[in-house]
Amino acid sequence: MSGRWPYLPPRADALRHRLIFALDVDTPAEAERLVRLLAKEVGIFKIGKQLFLAAGPEVVRMVLRHGADVFLDLKFHDIPHTVAKAGVAAARLGVRFFDVHASGSFEMMERTHAEVTRACRREGIRRPRILAVTVLTSLNKGDLRRVGVADEVEHQVVRLARLARRAGMDGVVAAPLEIARIRRACGRGFLIVTPGVRPASTGLDDQKRVLTPEEAMRAGADYLVLGRPIRDARDPRGAVREVIAEMARGYFAARLRPGVRA
Ligand code: C5P
Repeated sequence: MSGRWPYLPPRADALRHRLIFALDVDTPAEAERLVRLLAKEVGIFKIGKQLFLAAGPEVVRMVLRHGADVFLDLKFHDIPHTVAKAGVAAARLGVRFFDVHASGSFEMMERTHAEVTRACRREGIRRPRILAVTVLTSLNKGDLRRVGVADEVEHQVVRLARLARRAGMDGVVAAPLEIARIRRACGRGFLIVTPGVRPASTGLDDQKRVLTPEEAMRAGADYLVLGRPIRDARDPRGAVREVIAEMARGYFAARLRPGVRA
């Protein structure tokens, strides 16, 4: 047990492997400073376009060297052949998760899953979990209509989540308020990774429809993504421990309610 507050019971400590820290910075040096600071507290670091374009694949290896996992958040969307090859390259880099746009098609997702699985078996590497992005939270009903989708945003989210599941995706990236609906539609075992989470004690930044870590875990999220509330905290390590303590409350509360998945 550590003397630091908040004290986390051993099972709660395992929840750090369900916390994904968004490494949204401009330089490899800043990324490494944060990884050094947080690698013992956070299980997974998310690398998106901003950092990947500035630092290249080496930044993924840097995180892995510190003993943490990587979610490579490049949201692939291209012809099936190209996305499948990109997925194989991500697997060879050693990432734990990468993502694709579900709107890229059933075939794009299915082929990516098949080729990544085959390559990983052949080369003896761990297969990354492949996540699908359904409808970006920056899009509203009007945006969908302009690209020919007449349906409500929530219906399109569920339609794409189901399609992703059938195509072999391991889960989706989903906004807090979509968790329950996707869980009902896609069942247990389909991973839900949720950004747009804010600890009870911090501000909203530009996230509009947020839940706290406790609420998101209680609603059925498997992994939470947080960036600025940790990065900009006066004590980022303390902020992580607070988030994990909140996650633990929601996780164990959900597990105690019969019929609800945590
Ligand atoms: O700093 P913050 O906690 O808002 O970071 C959340 C991370 O999750 C960012 O990398 C952001 O791009 C990503 N994200 C999001 N909302 C979505 C999808 C991804 O905030 N709907």
